[in-house]
Amino acid sequence: MIPESIQKEVTQLREALHYHNYRYYVLDDPEIPDAEYDRMMRHLLELEAQYPELVTPDSPSQRVGAPPLESFETVRHDLPMLSLANGFDDGEIREFDQRVKRMLKTDDLIEYVGEPKMDGLAIEIRYEKGILTQGATRGDGFMGEDITANIKTIGAIPLKLRLGNLPIPNRLDVRGEVFMPIEGFKKLNEEREKEGQPPFANPRNAAAGSLRQLNSHVTASRPLDVYFYGVGVVDGMTFETHWEILTTLPNYGLKTNPHARLCQGIENAIFYFHELEKLRETFPYEMDGVVIKVNNLALQRRLGEVSRSPRWAIAYKFPASQELTQIKDIIVQVGRTGVLTPVAVMKPVEVEGATVSRATLHNQDEIERKDIRIGDWVIVQRAGGVIPEVVRVVLSKRPPDAHPFVFPSTCPVCGSPVVRLPGEASHRCMGISCPAQLKAKIFHFASKRAMDIDGLGQKLVDQLVDQGLVKDFADLYHLSLKELVNLERMAEKSAQNLLEEIERSKQTTLPHFLYALGIPLVGEHLAQILAEHFGDLGVLMEAPEETLMEVSEIGPQVARSIRSFFDTPDNQGVIRRLREAGVRWSPFVKKKELPLAGEIFLFTGALPDMTRDEAKALVENLGAQTANQVSRKVTCVVAGEKAGSKLEKAKAMGMRILTPEQFTTIIRKYTSEKKG
Ligand code: IVH
Repeated sequence: MIPESIQKEVTQLREALHYHNYRYYVLDDPEIPDAEYDRMMRHLLELEAQYPELVTPDSPSQRVGAPPLESFETVRHDLPMLSLANGFDDGEIREFDQRVKRMLKTDDLIEYVGEPKMDGLAIEIRYEKGILTQGATRGDGFMGEDITANIKTIGAIPLKLRLGNLPIPNRLDVRGEVFMPIEGFKKLNEEREKEGQPPFANPRNAAAGSLRQLNSHVTASRPLDVYFYGVGVVDGMTFETHWEILTTLPNYGLKTNPHARLCQGIENAIFYFHELEKLRETFPYEMDGVVIKVNNLALQRRLGEVSRSPRWAIAYKFPASQELTQIKDIIVQVGRTGVLTPVAVMKPVEVEGATVSRATLHNQDEIERKDIRIGDWVIVQRAGGVIPEVVRVVLSKRPPDAHPFVFPSTCPVCGSPVVRLPGEASHRCMGISCPAQLKAKIFHFASKRAMDIDGLGQKLVDQLVDQGLVKDFADLYHLSLKELVNLERMAEKSAQNLLEEIERSKQTTLPHFLYALGIPLVGEHLAQILAEHFGDLGVLMEAPEETLMEVSEIGPQVARSIRSFFDTPDNQGVIRRLREAGVRWSPFVKKKELPLAGEIFLFTGALPDMTRDEAKALVENLGAQTANQVSRKVTCVVAGEKAGSKLEKAKAMGMRILTPEQFTTIIRKYTSEKKG
């Protein structure tokens, strides 16, 4: 029997988490710091682990992901999900308006709704009595895939409708577009490159790839967002206009695009299109046009559909800023994990304000699929307005001497054999001491988020490797002043500084060290997770694949990669030599287990024996956060001498206020505890 107090606590936690989720994702106006949210979520997870009977499908805990699936089930859409006819200029949009009027036998202005056309993946979500019960892809419009587990990990999608005093619809199927904001897309690709995984070509592919994951933990780690733009089956509520749908859904916690607009007559809709076209670059996500829809639902029904597109809507597409250029050569670049990436070298061309002369071609399959040859004229565009990509070949312009690219059978840098492993899209250089790989590995090892050796840049790494001074990570810790000053453009002072930096880097943390090793598929995030789980390098190095796979977010591929990394005698040797050279870290303490986790400190006035920055560093090391302004988020105010208005405000708000002496006592308690 579960105590009533626990049941009550779980219900309250859930309500609070739903509410804060809504503030954060839908209103974009969080009320509490992320740390506080995380703490509540952890508490809920703990309680649910203890009392699994209490877990419900709409619990916020369901957002963290579910066990991986073998395959997706198929889902039938009760109302087919149609697609849109396209228009490319004002004339075509006016023709659309004429057709609408003809069919409705009217000369009156038609009321339209204009909406950004999001570039992502269409989904349909079913809410039964307010609870999310199913999420599906559009598929072919009639049948989609059941991606419920993945959908639930997206913070912007409510697991339960916000009802307040709104009526509960028996059933509400909503449709919308899941997309990846450009910022998140760039970050994700940077991480993927660091982990030796191929980057996504554009935010749309990244969103689609993330949603169609059999392992929902992967989806949970991806920055996805959503805008709803319509409904399917609805039982228990009625709408008369599309605008009513767009303005009602947000009351239920379902985000609709705030840039949608009601337009009287087609000219206003066209004006809206050109306005958005100008603003397009300033949006944090990609859109590929606007959708213009007849607002009145009764009129929509009268108009009906033709060849699976509604007659009441049209997508007015932005002109893609594509340019024509010629491929002069295709070269290959060797990455840290030995992956060879083919890169097109093109005649420089201006695309959306930036000069483009290179574009990744990803891998051999991609080159073959697009039939790209050296000498071809190609259309290029910038995916996500950022990354240049070759869209297609202009076959009519193919010169007679254009020739297919043949993947080199040996590494262009070290001459070792190049192989394409079964099941992999990429070719790899097998050279264990390939200088290109080594340079990339050393550069990564020294980077800020890894061992953080300031001053060890790409040029210096190139020299160290080319001169044979560094053959593995451990060699860095045996460099001498004499060797360094002999390098080109290296003054004694800088050499001295570098040696000091190298020395300083020896004191690191386990997550930083693991990340620095550059284990294929293990980026910063997984390094942190591994450190948290194993706490000790020796234990991790010995862990069999099955044990590794028990760790959340670690699947068979990553487990195999980790195992084979630590099974390689060379790698074991380098790790041993690094430790012998003095690379060390304190025993790993989980951040959430630190004594001041969840606290937010504010310092005001002068402290007698330390600066404010020192005090902040102290509490941060104990797991707390710090703030500069008084707010309800702050959990503890430390008031030193001459504390002014902040102290007054804190007092007025009835906050917990410490004297510098009380503060020192607390800190001493935890720091001495830690030592002992
Ligand atoms: S309305 C029948 N509105 O465009 C109307 N679609 O070709 C169907 N899309 O698969 C869709 N933003 O993925 C609509 N504001 C928006 C949209 C939108 C993006 C996508 C959607 C659909 C495709 C239509």
